Amino acid sequence: MSRLKLSTSSWSNQTAFIMAATGSAVGLGNLWKFPYITGENGGGAFVIVYLLCVLFIGLPVLMAEITLGRRGGANPPQALLNLALETKSSKWWWLLGLNGLIAGCLILSFYTVIAGWGIAYFFESLSGDFIDISAKSVGERFSNLIASPWELALWHTLAMVFTVYVVSKGVKSGLERAINIMMPGLFVILLILLGYAASSAAFAESFHFLFYPDFSKLTWDGVLVAMGHAFFTLSIGMGAMMVYGSYLSKEYSIPKAGLWIAGIDTLVALMAGLVIFSVVFANHLQPGSGPGLLFQTLPVAFGKMSGGWFFGTLFFALVILAALSSAISLIEPAVSWFEQNWGIKRQKASLLIGSTTWVMGIGTILSFNEWKDFHLIGNRTIFESLDFLTTNIMLPLGGLLMALFVAWVMTQAQRDDEMSLASPWKDLYRNVLKYITPLAILIVFLYNLL
Ligand code: PHE
Ligand code: NA
Repeated sequence: MSRLKLSTSSWSNQTAFIMAATGSAVGLGNLWKFPYITGENGGGAFVIVYLLCVLFIGLPVLMAEITLGRRGGANPPQALLNLALETKSSKWWWLLGLNGLIAGCLILSFYTVIAGWGIAYFFESLSGDFIDISAKSVGERFSNLIASPWELALWHTLAMVFTVYVVSKGVKSGLERAINIMMPGLFVILLILLGYAASSAAFAESFHFLFYPDFSKLTWDGVLVAMGHAFFTLSIGMGAMMVYGSYLSKEYSIPKAGLWIAGIDTLVALMAGLVIFSVVFANHLQPGSGPGLLFQTLPVAFGKMSGGWFFGTLFFALVILAALSSAISLIEPAVSWFEQNWGIKRQKASLLIGSTTWVMGIGTILSFNEWKDFHLIGNRTIFESLDFLTTNIMLPLGGLLMALFVAWVMTQAQRDDEMSLASPWKDLYRNVLKYITPLAILIVFLYNLL
């Protein structure tokens, strides 16, 4: 095993990198997951813990991960091996990269299933099915969808084919173009939805639910979910940001990029939450109704608002794009490893990993119907187990080790060379990454074990 600088394709400019990294961050995690886990965990107090995790864990790890990628200059296992050689530390650090590749594929296996729901809803909205629809029939439609393994498999397949297609096209031609149109579009339509929600009577209740903490509703389990979600939503701890960082050239500011990515991601999640809970409370639905929340609420709002057919169809198109730009970053670490270290062509590697992951996705599909009562980890279904294992264990563990590497193994000179932070920020960042971030992750882990 030796040192290899392998990543050659570079982003055309800093905006392209921020766009791609934001495209990875903003996805189903913001639109679908954040609202439903917030609903399940009682609202405000959970949101505060989540925001604290983004600030003190997510942001520092995000910056550390991009640093590792750029300095390592290759796919995650190789980048970590390069860095281990540079710092004369153990070669076993490459396993941290491998952990990420595996986590990425496990996440992708359920991510494309949920993205598939988005595709199904896009077509339903397009055909006018949501016009004037009642909350009750939206709920029934959703139940019918997830009760049908064949239909879910069809949409899951479509989502996976899209992903593999884009990734097989390579960094520049594939990734950059789609994302440039998607991000602003998503933002505009969320603003329109927010305007609609703000004019509804339930907006105040939604606001109150999200921002007024009731700590009696928060459990240690909820804290773990909030912390895991900070990793999931920022795409950190598994190498996606590392690979993207490896395509980033030297002169770009990593702290600035990190702030942009985390800021936009958080904003999108909070906007989605405000909109969805307005619909929840206006229609007397349950905030804690689980993974179906987005799909059981927004169609009701689109059905009632003027121009709802247009906005609804556009919205689900954007959900698909947002999911796709995250899905490609889930598979990219593995693809670049196969490509760079094993000499397997990009097309072939994407196809290989995509089809393996597609098969694993069948488990998630069946966990919503035929295998609903089959429990894998504790009392969790297959989908819940995969989500738990990756989001709450593998990503935080990966992120912890990345933080430790940058803070304790790399020297200040090496960090300075990558980050060039001005004086008070430099010490602040080093100390947060050295002590606060790792301790916070460990404490949350420990409390959940006990
Ligand atoms: N951040 C993405 C989202 O919020 C999901 C993701 C996780 C993407 C990990 C890449 C890596 O939807
Ligand atoms: Na996100």
